[in-house]
Amino acid sequence: MRLRNNPEAYDRLELCSNYIQDAKSLKGQWKKHFGNDNPVHMEIGSGKGRFITTLAQRNPGINYVAIEKFPTVLLKLIRKIPEEGLQNLAVVSIDADQLEEILEPGEIEKLYLNFSDPWPKKRHAKRRLTSSSFLSLYKKVLKADALIEFKTDNRGLFDFSLEEIKNSGFELLKVTFDLYNSDMLEGNIATEYEERFHNLGTPINKLIAKMKIDNQGGASHEVHTQE
Ligand SMILES: C[S@@+](CC[C@H](N)C(=O)[O-])C[C@H]1O[C@@H](n2cnc3c(N)ncnc32)[C@H](O)[C@@H]1O
Repeated sequence: MRLRNNPEAYDRLELCSNYIQDAKSLKGQWKKHFGNDNPVHMEIGSGKGRFITTLAQRNPGINYVAIEKFPTVLLKLIRKIPEEGLQNLAVVSIDADQLEEILEPGEIEKLYLNFSDPWPKKRHAKRRLTSSSFLSLYKKVLKADALIEFKTDNRGLFDFSLEEIKNSGFELLKVTFDLYNSDMLEGNIATEYEERFHNLGTPINKLIAKMKIDNQGGASHEVHTQE
């Protein structure tokens, strides 16, 4: 079995200037850490990191934080950082359930969740990164009006996520059950998992949701759904 929490991985991560060993010390200080007043966006479950490293290269005016629970997986992400470096990317190895320990309310302006683990058994539903318990946690650290973008190949997880998001004080702005045949494809960055499933012919689902300022929950009247 691959040892995903191999302690040597931390030693190797510490050699990378993008790696944040003590993320708790940056709570409320992320903009100061990046040395500018640019917005801070976050991806949870970055995996091998193609998405967040590409995004950071495309958008130097935005700061990015990559969250990945397994340090050995983060080693693959940091290999994708170009030789000249990426000043606007920080990588953190924690479980998403610890977000409040590293973030003050409102510190994050956009959240990306890509191909999150589906946890298919009902008794594990709370572990899904789009479950109502995780959405409540995100609301505590997201800025009012912040966006969540979520992509997955897993239709069951996607349908579950649509319901949880609608019932958790977010407004669905855009939804597609077939990203590659929709106008939401423009500017898309395919993740490692996405490339694999798309090449197998699996339709990719994507939603964009906005945090409601009043946090009343309920269905959105503005949703544009594309089959
Ligand atoms: C299925 S992979 C997808 C990776 C990548 N986003 C992609 O699309 O290629 C899910 C990733 O999320 C990470 N992950 C799952 N649950 C997490 C959690 N609670 N906190 C942080 N990372 C998590 C896993 O370790 C894994 O690397």
